[in-house]
Amino acid sequence: MIIISVGDRYDALIGEHLLQEIGERCRTIGFSGRCAVISDTNVAALSGDRVKQSLTASSFQPTLITIPAGEKSKTLKQAGAICDQMIAAGLDRQSFVIGLGGGVIGDISGFVAAIYHRGIPHVQIPTTLLAMVDSSIGGKTGVNTAPGKNLIGAVHHPSLVIDDVDVLKTLPRREFNQGFAEIIKHAVIADAEMFAALKEKKARSPRRPLALQSLIRRNIEIKSKIVAKDERDRTGERAILNFGHTVGHGIERAGDYQEFLHGEAVSLGIVAACAISIKRAGLPSDQRDAIVDLLRRFDLPTKLSRDFPREKIIGALKFDKKFEAGKIRFVVTPRIGSAHLSSNVTLEDIREAVASL
Ligand SMILES: NC(=O)c1ccc[n+]([C@@H]2O[C@H](COP(=O)([O-])OP(=O)(O)OC[C@H]3O[C@@H](n4cnc5c(N)ncnc54)[C@H](O)[C@@H]3O)[C@@H](O)[C@H]2O)c1
Ligand SMILES: [Zn+2]
Repeated sequence: MIIISVGDRYDALIGEHLLQEIGERCRTIGFSGRCAVISDTNVAALSGDRVKQSLTASSFQPTLITIPAGEKSKTLKQAGAICDQMIAAGLDRQSFVIGLGGGVIGDISGFVAAIYHRGIPHVQIPTTLLAMVDSSIGGKTGVNTAPGKNLIGAVHHPSLVIDDVDVLKTLPRREFNQGFAEIIKHAVIADAEMFAALKEKKARSPRRPLALQSLIRRNIEIKSKIVAKDERDRTGERAILNFGHTVGHGIERAGDYQEFLHGEAVSLGIVAACAISIKRAGLPSDQRDAIVDLLRRFDLPTKLSRDFPREKIIGALKFDKKFEAGKIRFVVTPRIGSAHLSSNVTLEDIREAVASL
């Protein structure tokens, strides 16, 4: 098992057979009493019982709360319904919340933990690769609203993150691959060495537990290091994690959150951000080609279909948090392994990049 101390704040444990230890692990960090295990219909069916049993065996009183799987569940209404169930189950200020699922569950359960009794502890048990390498780290929690994604939320760091790579065995291939969009993003913005390693053939069949564990570790380290520099997203340092996400979020929304998974939309957003980086940051075109090639190797989309409503992507940008006071905060990469915020990217640049997708 690998233990990483994330920003000296909480531990992330990475290993096999960790779900059955969850009760013990929660005891070790001083928790007791009641807890809510928030999960979705898919993950609860696969792992809900195991987690509940482990908690009960360590004398916790868990209540399993299940919501429908998928992005459409990440709403304020659903968060309210979860809170109601927690009140009915007698959870109080001493209780805690466990999020058992992908990024949707991590975000909504973390948000519920942030607001319930003005904040109770949160344990993240991410069950998708994307959630392990990205969303479970950094403390950003929240829900979507009709105009845009993640517009309502709170920064609420978890008390513990448990990455049991066994759970990834049941993850559908498409879901597994989308995690690589965030991994490739991390490589492009901060780790040229990881970028080179991902090009090796063996990196593409990383269902092997040990390879996966070290890949997850490296990504947690990259993300937590960036987050530590700018926790509340104020100075622009954390913003580089949004590489590929301005256009990516627009694509997710234009496809009504149905057509593309988050990571797939981010893959397309990365391609657009590379085109803009060539123009505005001097990214050499052969490096852009290498990035596009790597995305393709993980079966991630790098081109939009001809009839995709591109104008909807631009329309969706207005609701993006990256438009602050009418100015675009766009992340560019001058070379693989480095990224920064640019203030000279125009809406026209984005339009052009989207047109060429
Ligand atoms: N907070 C952050 O910093 C942050 C960062 C990146 C992404 N996100 C958010 O994460 C979300 C996307 O996360 P996601 O891709 O994990 O989506 P998800 O939570 O919807 O999970 C994807 C699908 O896989 C299923 N699933 C999950 N684990 C499984 C397993 N082990 N076996 C079989 N099926 C399983 C789920 O039921 C779901 O159908 C988005 O809402 C995005 O905004 C947040
Ligand atoms: Zn993302």
